[in-house]
Amino acid sequence: MRPEVYRFFADLVQKHSGIVLKEEKAYLIESRLRELARALNYRDVNQLYQVASKRLTPQLRDDIIEAMTTNETYFFRDQHPFEALRKEVIPELKKLRAREKELRFWSAAASTGQEAYSLAMLIHEYFPDLLSWRIQILATDISREALKKGEKGAYSQIEVNRGLPVTFLVKYFKQNGSKWVVNEKLRRMIIFRKLNLVDPLPPTLGKFDVVFCRYVLIYFSQEVKAKVLQNIAKVMKPKGYLFLGATESPQGMPAGFKRKVIGRTICYQWEG
Ligand SMILES: C[S@@+](CC[C@H](N)C(=O)[O-])C[C@H]1O[C@@H](n2cnc3c(N)ncnc32)[C@H](O)[C@@H]1O
Repeated sequence: MRPEVYRFFADLVQKHSGIVLKEEKAYLIESRLRELARALNYRDVNQLYQVASKRLTPQLRDDIIEAMTTNETYFFRDQHPFEALRKEVIPELKKLRAREKELRFWSAAASTGQEAYSLAMLIHEYFPDLLSWRIQILATDISREALKKGEKGAYSQIEVNRGLPVTFLVKYFKQNGSKWVVNEKLRRMIIFRKLNLVDPLPPTLGKFDVVFCRYVLIYFSQEVKAKVLQNIAKVMKPKGYLFLGATESPQGMPAGFKRKVIGRTICYQWEG
């Protein structure tokens, strides 16, 4: 790929999604763009570049960003954050919110939904008393394709083999042909919406008791990462918890978040 072609796509993706495409990943960018060019019936990446650089429609821009997202995820990823929720976080929030009887969770880079369904299963399994509360899980992502799959709640055998205990598979999924489909009770708890973390958060988003923003900040520059964390701070309920990915550094974390260690998990409680 010619350097100016790489630069054009890298700049476009960074400007609209925050995702930094490093030069050493040029081969990956090229192979994903080649696939997109083929899907859109262009001859090759050069023709895609010519069209995009002359007349970039919002649809084409979204398609290019979509092609650059990495949607890797699986059920109960890392396990220990879910243990922390079960053992400390939800019991504490249950006491704090006993009057409102409402808990709101946000899976802020939800990809294909496994994280949101893991939260729903955890609540069903270990906190049946909460099912009479207003419990909402909002699952958002920049990738429309990933969200579409999440909303369907239909996963392959390989996907359910990753992280999901067999007992949960049997209890919360139904087999339909080659897919395992999440049951209606779990699906009713989750709302899937497109949301770009780099944009100002919509005022209708409301506030959250628990935010999972995992394995997405790693794709952003330090500046964008700090901006996203500041946006998240604005939607935290008092004493609410933020979870990042296990390998993600808290650089740029707003001062109102207090670092907490629960078992093997580091999380951040909103004291602002
Ligand atoms: C590696 S997945 C992580 C999924 C899940 N949180 C987990 O930990 O398993 C990263 C997700 O971030 C999404 N993403 C990337 N940039 C984004 C942005 N600016 N706004 C919202 N989501 C974004 C991607 O589409 C992708 O689905």
